[in-house]
Amino acid sequence: MSSVDSQRRVLSGMRPTGRLHLGHYHGVIKNWLQLQHEYECFFFVADWHALTTNYDDPRQIEKNVWDMVIDWLAAGVSPNAATLFIQSRIPEHAELHLLLSMMTPLGWLERVPSYKDMQENLKEKELDTYGFLGYPLLQSADILIYHAGAVPVGADQVAHVELTREVARRFNHLYGREPDFEDLAEAAVKKMGKKAAKLFSSLRKRYQEEGDQEAMQRAQALLKEQQNITLGDRERLFGYIEGSGRMILAEPQSLLTSAPKMPGLDGRKMSKSYNNMITLRDTEDEIMQKLKTMPTDPARVRLTDAGDPDKCPVWQFHEVYSSEETRQWVQSGCRNAGIGCLDCKKPVIDAIVSEIQPIREKAEQLEQNPAMVRSVIAEGNEKAREVARETIDDVRQAMGLNYR
Ligand code: TRP
Ligand code: SF4
Repeated sequence: MSSVDSQRRVLSGMRPTGRLHLGHYHGVIKNWLQLQHEYECFFFVADWHALTTNYDDPRQIEKNVWDMVIDWLAAGVSPNAATLFIQSRIPEHAELHLLLSMMTPLGWLERVPSYKDMQENLKEKELDTYGFLGYPLLQSADILIYHAGAVPVGADQVAHVELTREVARRFNHLYGREPDFEDLAEAAVKKMGKKAAKLFSSLRKRYQEEGDQEAMQRAQALLKEQQNITLGDRERLFGYIEGSGRMILAEPQSLLTSAPKMPGLDGRKMSKSYNNMITLRDTEDEIMQKLKTMPTDPARVRLTDAGDPDKCPVWQFHEVYSSEETRQWVQSGCRNAGIGCLDCKKPVIDAIVSEIQPIREKAEQLEQNPAMVRSVIAEGNEKAREVARETIDDVRQAMGLNYR
């Protein structure tokens, strides 16, 4: 696969934490639903990543995997539009992780911010392990093995994508140098035809001498247009623009999602560990119960006490769910004690119930049909594995490891 096509490929993984909640839905899944129609998408269950923190209790992972896949499907992630698979069924991720581990300096991993943060946050766990330090490198292998150009992530994961770029660059630099790279590259330039070759050479020169980013992008676009050069040549020329060597692993970009902040029932971020969530399988009664007992602005003890939506987690739900008109009604009704908190919660309850109901019903159907769910994943595993095999072949070849 050429580096240009990889721009159209999206990869994302989720650790199997079990049933999904509204935070996952608004923060990740809704984004996937859109991406699956715009890009070639690979979505996978990062079950090996779950092991990095839950190695002491791996038996819970299996149920969490299937619960999560069911919620993906119920929420509309489509196996016709995206390839859905399980990380541990694709052993090539592990092989690439191992090979990358040989050339990744320890310092690169130690300075990833999530490393120290998570160790601090999960103090009760022994996370001074080899696997936990390698967490972001395993993620790099996940991304690089599919030549993914775009990785939708939250802000906390941007550093992992950055590391992935550094690792790819180092790999290409170390192993992309064929002994006769310059000659092969120059021969490939000639194959583009006189006019394109001349343009390519001048753009490359401008980039190398002046660091002109636009020239680099134009040179890349030019390569993309070429019909009569081989894939190998195209990759070579991609590397030749920068001068380093053949590009074997593509550098990904993060695709930051601008999802609204989904608060939990207590106003903190919705999260399993805070026990403040509404799951995609909650029934109408459960949703109603949870919302009714949800805390509001503590200043509103009595109906006649004025409140401040900025101090109330219910308001944050209105920000996600309500129209401008409803929000106005909340703002004035709360501040001059014109509405009760139960009235105020009503539109939120209705919105969440109607959002979740079809998802819950679909999930119940899927739970009755585990064979169907398994077959969706089996098919995805196969498709993913084909791509991963091709990449690992290239990698072995570039490193001179394809002897048998
Ligand atoms: N680390 C990600 C998370 O905690 C999950 C993940 C693993 C991932 N591999 C990935 C995400 C590759 C994007 C791409 O959410
Ligand atoms: Fe919160 Fe609404 Fe009650 Fe104001 S009226 S405190 S916004 S629930």
